[in-house]
Amino acid sequence: MGLVIDLQGDESEAEWVAQFAARLGGYPVWRRGEAYDRKAVRYVFTARPGPQTFDGLGGLRAILSFGAGVDGIMAYADLPDVPVVRFVDADLSRRMSEYVLANVLLHHRLTTLYQAGQRERRWQKIAPGTAPEIGVGIMGLGVLGQAAAEKLRPLGYRLNGWSRTGKSLTGMRTYAGAAEREAFLGETDILVCLLPLTADTRGILDKALFQKLRRGVLAGGPAVINAARGGHLVVGDLVAALRDGTLGAASLDVFEIEPLPKESPLWGLENCFITPHVAAVSDPSAGADYFAAIIKAHEAGAPLPNVVDRGRGY
Ligand code: NDP
Ligand code: OXD
Repeated sequence: MGLVIDLQGDESEAEWVAQFAARLGGYPVWRRGEAYDRKAVRYVFTARPGPQTFDGLGGLRAILSFGAGVDGIMAYADLPDVPVVRFVDADLSRRMSEYVLANVLLHHRLTTLYQAGQRERRWQKIAPGTAPEIGVGIMGLGVLGQAAAEKLRPLGYRLNGWSRTGKSLTGMRTYAGAAEREAFLGETDILVCLLPLTADTRGILDKALFQKLRRGVLAGGPAVINAARGGHLVVGDLVAALRDGTLGAASLDVFEIEPLPKESPLWGLENCFITPHVAAVSDPSAGADYFAAIIKAHEAGAPLPNVVDRGRGY
């Protein structure tokens, strides 16, 4: 029996090995590339498996996901038929909700507008509205979407949320499925994407969606915040929308290719705030607490929590 940490050379790999080993007592914890008996492996901790990650793992019991998003695992062509366990953690939720709060406030307070004025030494006395006038729409009402909503609620925003299945959440107007998407967007001045990347959600942040957001409340136009995956966004549509005023501003934390290539047009847009996929990093200490407890319980016969539904893809 044993656990393999395979983060495909990510700089944090050794740290994760140490954190797991510290919590699992004598339970073997191996790092990708080390010599170990592949038949003895019961768990693999990974984000984006490599071509050999699962070779010869006849005793594999579960795949443990480094991140809350499992798209990198689900995209693997010959994924072993074992449960995939998501990372669900209070530390991760806190980090994401802080990112969302910071960026909602940034757009609510018209930061790009004043910065443009500052560059031109222009005094633009356009006062921002107050939170109750501003519709913040969260796409994806899962663990992170709900945590973000909880952080925003005390500020008094008009909260809207959209998910695949219907929900009833305190202090939030909720919409579900394709049929209610347009109504959701029409109430939204600041859109926050916290969807998983699946066949249904790829490319969802496109020109047609940007045009359906509410206009006239945020001076400069509505804003889009993407903290989910780069694959949700049609980059050409966003660039055009930020240039022609369909959108006033955007915040992007995730990109189809990371690091974002130097030649990307996104870097040069003054109304686009770029962060290097740091909205909510998986903390090795918190992650090892969570997954080591799962391994111990599972070895003792308990069921696995937070298992991905392969049919839905998240
Ligand atoms: P969850 O699986 O808990 O929630 C997903 C939500 O999206 C659910 O509410 C689900 O609806 C909804 N959803 C899924 N498909 C659709 C669809 N086709 N139409 C409408 N709604 C849909 O995920 P998390 O909240 O834990 O994470 C969300 C994403 O955040 C991750 O997949 C990852 O990509 C990203 N992430 C980014 C990080 C960063 O640092 N930038 C860090 C961590 C995560 P329903 O409730 O009905 O099932
Ligand atoms: C995640 C991420 O999915 O780091 O957790 O993006």
